[in-house]
Amino acid sequence: MVITTAPASLPTASNERKVPEELLRNYDVARRPTFKELVSREQSDLRAVLQHYLSDIQFKNPRILDICCGTMHEEPLLYELFGEGTSMIGIDARQSSVEKAAELGRKSVRLGDLRYLNEYVEGTFDIVVGRNVPLNPNGGLWRLEYDDPWPGIIFPNIASVMNDNSILFLTLLMEDEFYRAQQILSRHKFRILLEEKNPIPVRSDLVCVAADMKDTYVITAKAPLP
Ligand SMILES: C[S@@+](CC[C@H](N)C(=O)[O-])C[C@H]1O[C@@H](n2cnc3c(N)ncnc32)[C@H](O)[C@@H]1O
Repeated sequence: MVITTAPASLPTASNERKVPEELLRNYDVARRPTFKELVSREQSDLRAVLQHYLSDIQFKNPRILDICCGTMHEEPLLYELFGEGTSMIGIDARQSSVEKAAELGRKSVRLGDLRYLNEYVEGTFDIVVGRNVPLNPNGGLWRLEYDDPWPGIIFPNIASVMNDNSILFLTLLMEDEFYRAQQILSRHKFRILLEEKNPIPVRSDLVCVAADMKDTYVITAKAPLP
């Protein structure tokens, strides 16, 4: 049998679903946004997040450590929030991120591995920021790295550069990383102040599966009591 007409349920030119106007208004779907546009979009979302979680913190010109900082899009936002006299150091183990950060004009980013944190920094920090820290225990498997230094080495290293008043501000991409962070922090007796799903969406500079949004979960904590 030859079917000559399409069944009524199939879309035709006249009944095809249209993308709602409000989704098109601010976004040119025919053109992929440039990296610069994606960065400034992430920064404008992130500004609201940092103000929401950190503007109550009473530090003027604090000393800030940014762990796993990547390209550290938060650097200018943290100066904006805490003052130009703030001192910052960002640490990331990936050479390409450190190079990209320099291209973007970041001043604080250094190449370094948090397993050896005490080789790069001295003293304590008022605020330790860690955005989208990679806590998936299988995260290193694609590089055939089977050890997971976070619970036994990196979190104790972080505690060692905090004092009684320091604040840790962590964000996590995935739900399992959020629960794992809570578990590790509790095990090391960090004093958790807040742990929640971030109500403010942060659109990512990376547009790929599982990373088109960032900073999905937030935890703030004080260092373990000595
Ligand atoms: C998901 S990315 C987050 C980057 C950035 N904070 C952001 O939100 O865009 C995780 C980062 O952690 C860094 N990282 C992973 N293990 C590390 C370690 N042991 N020491 C320093 N950086 C590390 C990676 O190089 C990567 O840039």
